[in-house]
Amino acid sequence: MAHPSTFPAEQWLSRWRGTSGLLNLADTYACPISIDDLTSLSSENGEGPLTTTSKLNYGSTNGSSELRRSVAKLCSGQDAQLTEDDVVITQGAISANFLVLYALLGPTDHAICVYPVYTQLYSVPETFGAQVSFWRLKEENGYIPDVRDLHNLFQRNTKMIILNNPNNPTGAVIPEPVLRDIIAIAKARGIIVFSDEVYRPLFHEPDSAPPPITAFGYERTLATGSMSKSLSLPGIRIGWVASPNRALIAACSRRRDFTTISVSQVDDQIATYALSPAVQPALLRRNIDLARRNRRLVEAFVARHADRCRWVRPGGGTMAFMQFRGATSGRPVDDEAFCADLIDRCKVLLVPGSHSFGCGEDFAGYVRLAYVCDTAVVQEALARLSKYLEEHPWDGGGDEE
Ligand SMILES: Cc1ncc(COP(=O)(O)O)c(C=O)c1O
Repeated sequence: MAHPSTFPAEQWLSRWRGTSGLLNLADTYACPISIDDLTSLSSENGEGPLTTTSKLNYGSTNGSSELRRSVAKLCSGQDAQLTEDDVVITQGAISANFLVLYALLGPTDHAICVYPVYTQLYSVPETFGAQVSFWRLKEENGYIPDVRDLHNLFQRNTKMIILNNPNNPTGAVIPEPVLRDIIAIAKARGIIVFSDEVYRPLFHEPDSAPPPITAFGYERTLATGSMSKSLSLPGIRIGWVASPNRALIAACSRRRDFTTISVSQVDDQIATYALSPAVQPALLRRNIDLARRNRRLVEAFVARHADRCRWVRPGGGTMAFMQFRGATSGRPVDDEAFCADLIDRCKVLLVPGSHSFGCGEDFAGYVRLAYVCDTAVVQEALARLSKYLEEHPWDGGGDEE
């Protein structure tokens, strides 16, 4: 299958991000915070994240020990305890993903990747000459991968299964039993399971949250993550690769030497502070509460406009994937024209689905709506969207009206 060599969602976002007056339901981080906000969340009064006296040298190549220990804890579970040596710090999850795919896939390899998904996860392997098969996530299955379909996707040279949990753009969470099945199948074939877990641990029902992929006791697993989404700090560019398998981590480290000496020492300090026991629980509580409160607003919107839009209620992450249709025709809207018209008339920024996630072929009429931002922004944007739907039936064969 031919895929775009561009990154349509990122291009759409960089075109509009920062336009003054737009209500942004497009960026997928939980409402960002300042250093002052972070300090005020701390249970240890007064102390902020920055040590202003330490010399700003490169620091330790793979990231500070303290930061890597905190990440190792996030990526551990009952069946696997990771240590700082199992973690490499990167500039955001986007660099972490690139590193894993660059280090481990090449022209003789085949990978299986869930779809729809963050484009990078299949485009980068293809850029390096690997062949990728899509494991289609079906709406009727709540966008949870169907393990029965997986068996048909293997090839003689399949090296990796690529997951994204919670998923961008659907917000679907792969439950633990399904992950166990995937691990068992991969283990029987010696295949690597790589999961982009940048939206962990933002689960709407934390009690039923699945463990990280690195915590199933299967060596050939890797997870990537970052401070950007569930931890509200996209402006410090800190991400990571974690794996219980030292050889996989070493392969990533060797490739990392070509692009990264170390990450910013200031960013490292802020991330270490945010993941500390004095701060992390309050930060996550804030974001899970925000996600649940705002999801209720979107749910009420979908119920009110059930004749015009539908969704699968997300179980985690920060976004929903929803389809909009014409009032009488029931035909999917042209999602790119629809999103452009919303920017024009309502000053609301969403991400068009077929344009950004459907390779120009799939997901007609779908948009990605990110809702873990300021509640007042979600309320106002949904109110404008409601009024827009009432005034614009979109029955003209998918054309802008
Ligand atoms: C699934 C997924 N992975 C990785 C990233 C990159 O995030 P960052 O580099 O800010 O950590 C994003 C950003 O939107 C994403 O949605």
